[in-house]
This record gives sequence, C-alpha cells and structure tokens, in this order.
Amino acid sequence: MRLIGLDVGTTAVKAIALDERGTVLARAERPYPLAMPRPGWAEQDPEDWWRASQEALAAVAGDDEILGIGLSGQMHGLVALDAADQVIRPAILWNDQRTGAQCEAITDRVGAERLVALTGNRALTGFTAPKLLWLREHEPDAYARIAHVMLPKDYVRLRLTGERATDVADASGTLLLDVAQRGWSDEVIDALEIDAAWLPRLLESPAPSGTTAAGVPVAAGAGDQAAGALGAGVSRPGLLSVVLGTSGVVLAARDEFAADPEGRVHAFCHAAPDRWQAMGVMLSAASSLAWLQKVAAPGVPFEALIGEAAAWAPGADGLTFLPYLAGERTPHADPAARGALTGLAQHHDRGALVRAVLEGVACGLRDCADVVSGLDAGCSVAVARATGGGARSTLWLQIVASALELPIERLDVEEGAAFGAALLGGVAGGVWEDVDAAIAATVRVRDVIEPEPAWIAPQRELQERFRALYPKVGAGGATAEAVPAAAHDHGA
Ligand code: XUL
Repeated sequence: MRLIGLDVGTTAVKAIALDERGTVLARAERPYPLAMPRPGWAEQDPEDWWRASQEALAAVAGDDEILGIGLSGQMHGLVALDAADQVIRPAILWNDQRTGAQCEAITDRVGAERLVALTGNRALTGFTAPKLLWLREHEPDAYARIAHVMLPKDYVRLRLTGERATDVADASGTLLLDVAQRGWSDEVIDALEIDAAWLPRLLESPAPSGTTAAGVPVAAGAGDQAAGALGAGVSRPGLLSVVLGTSGVVLAARDEFAADPEGRVHAFCHAAPDRWQAMGVMLSAASSLAWLQKVAAPGVPFEALIGEAAAWAPGADGLTFLPYLAGERTPHADPAARGALTGLAQHHDRGALVRAVLEGVACGLRDCADVVSGLDAGCSVAVARATGGGARSTLWLQIVASALELPIERLDVEEGAAFGAALLGGVAGGVWEDVDAAIAATVRVRDVIEPEPAWIAPQRELQERFRALYPKVGAGGATAEAVPAAAHDHGA
C-alpha cells in the first residue's frame, strides 16, 4: 500500500509516496513558471499546477494500492472561476504585493481590532480577501464573471475529484474565516460585500473531500505551513516548528484560539481538528544567504560559504545583519522595512559577512519565537524541530539553537508539507484514526543539535543590537517602497 502527499508549491509541485511506517517509497518534483508582470506582482496559471500535479502523481503512483491522497500547497492565492469552472485570470499569489490600498480598506470596513479578533490576523497584502477587492476595483469585467473562488491546492482538488472544497487551515489565510469558530465569517464577508456563495465547502484537514476517478479518497489537506507542522510532528503545545527555508517560520500548536492583538503572528486553524496554531513568519531566511551568495560569492556552494563563517567567533566582531530584504511580517509587519549590515571594519572578510547573515536570521527567528510564545503564558516549549533547506547546515542550526536557547531536532524526512499531506491522506483513507496516530507511526527524529553554551551570551548581546537597529530601517526609517517579493518558497 502507499499514501501520497502533494504539495502545490510556488516554484514546483512536490509529490511523495509513503508506506504506513512513514518510509519514503518515491519522490517527484515538477516545476512551473512564475510570472511577475509588474514589480511586486506574482501570478501563475492554475492549469500549470494541474499539469504538473498529474505528472508528479503518476511518477510516484507505483504498482501497489493507493489508500489515500492528501493535498497541501502555497497559501493565500486567489483562483477565480466562472460558472463553468473555467479559470478567469491567472491566480494572484501569496507573495504578490499589489493590494496595499485594499488592505487599508478592509481594516477600515471591519475595524482593526475586530478583524484580528475574528480572523486571527491583520490585513496583509498576501492574503486572499484583499486580492478579491483589488479585482473588483481594477478588473471589474473579470470580477463580474466570478462564480467560485478557491485556493491553489483546491483547484488541483477540483480537477482531481470534481469537488469544490477547502480545509480550515488553508482557509485561515483568506481573511474570510472566523478562525475561532472554524467557519466562514459572515461578518467579514458582509462588510466586504463579497458573495458568500463563491466560497468552497469547508472541511477539517483529515476529512475526505472526494475521490479520484479511480476511487482513491482525497483528504481536505492543509496549507503548506500547517501541513509542514504536521509532517514535523508539531501537533501539540510544547514543541516549536522552525522552518529555515527561503522564508523562516516559527510555529506552535495550541489547544485554544488566541490572536495577538497587534496581529504580529498569524493565528490559524491547525490541521488537527480541535487545535490552532500561532505562526510567526520572517520573509528572508535562507534567501538572505542566497542574496549574499549572489552579490559576494557567485557560484560558491552554500556549504563552502557556511564553512567560511565557522572561522569567526559569535558576533563576527561587531557585525549586525538585519534580514529585512523583502520587508517583514513578524514581528514588525512592515513591508517597507529594509535590510542592513552594520559594524564593518577592514579585517572583516567574506566569512564574517556570512556569519553575520546566519546570526541575523537566527535573531529574526528568536524575535518570532518570542512573539509566538508570548501568546502562550504557561506553556513552555522544551524543544524545537527544524525543517527547510537551511536545516541541512549543522553550524546554522547550532547558531539558531543558541539564539532560541533550545535544542533543535532534525527529522528523518525533510519534505515537511508533502509528508504532512500524505499523513492527512492516510487518515482520510482509514489507515490511522487521527493525525496524532499518524504522527506517532511515522515521524522520526534523526539527530539533535544543542545550543553551544559559549555562544548564548554573545548571541543575546547581538539580539539587543539587532532589535535596536530596526527603527532605523523600518517604516519611517527607510523612505523606499517595499521591495518586490521574489519567487519565495518556504520549502526551498
Ligand atoms: C504562509 C505563506 C507561505 C505560502 C507559500 O502564510 O505565506 O507559507 O503559503 O509557501
């Protein structure tokens, strides 16, 4: 038997096939283009997702019986369909920044406090609802044709099963969900004058949403962050998921809904039906290192670059790097924030710059972790779990462990979101009773990276320098407009 997880990402679709012990039987990845028709815009053709998904599914199908499929994908994107289920225009993606004015309008219409209380979030340019308002204002003909709206992975579901459905974890990123009640928010929908009939049926993540033509159950699934947390086994308070991908994410599971009144962290539904999650997002984690590689070390592999950093002591003799190269979400929610590298001297070499970048990203993760845990009075986190490309570097994880002052576990399987999606497919297909049983059967820790005792004090000092620097590069500091977001994918 096998279970399949599909992750409809920003640069590619990833598919993984597992057995009931969580052993990976097959993997496939199929890329697709990302269009940036104007600075700050990001669009994709949903037909590309479907074509790539079919190929990836076929590549991992094998000969044994498929008991379940789970879907995961990039969150927040707007797919608009007409009454015949035809795509009206290219999907507008999570990293598209065109909706600043619409975010303000939503905040005015609903009220800032009420919006956070209902949806768990403030209006961010990447979210779905402001995209709908943008379409209404800028492409009224397209808007007039809308009969259905859905999220990226849900378009793949429609083609795979014929069903229009989504899950509460992914729907949490629309700004149209009452996250505490796990249902569409009539109040927000009415305030924005959107037609509630456009929205898909809502399910909990492990629930079956339909079947393929061959009769395989397809789970509702989850947005990539919720599915990734599940794939890392982070389904209960006490564990912290740290994603060191292109962007950085710090996520904790919670037994109750609680929103940060300032909306600095996202309060979303968890893929486990009776739980929620608090999530802090930094926009440039591994992409900060990719930026340094591009400008200072083209062609030098990341591993070699990180090796150069190992020669420097913590703090890189006074360097401070702020990773706000694409603005920031947590803790500053400031699309206009800018990055910085301060404290340079003659003796600093490339390795010192790399060290500063690794440490600056660790500071950003610590900032996220503090806001996330600040919501959890009484719930102490004992250990973190790292996934994402950056987690392959032991040095980087030692730095992050020292910044968080927590041990960090690495897992056997690196594909967080596709793995989590496969687990949801398994619950939908009856292999496990619930997501906790699925995690217990499949998620295994490979190794543990401890904080370096001698690095904790210098990292704390750096954290202070780091925090003191932000006001100089944040809103009111930098005069520049938001840097157009690149083709980020947390899993990268
Ligand atoms: C989550 C988010 C990203 C996208 C793309 O809030 O913006 O995780 O889902 O990966």
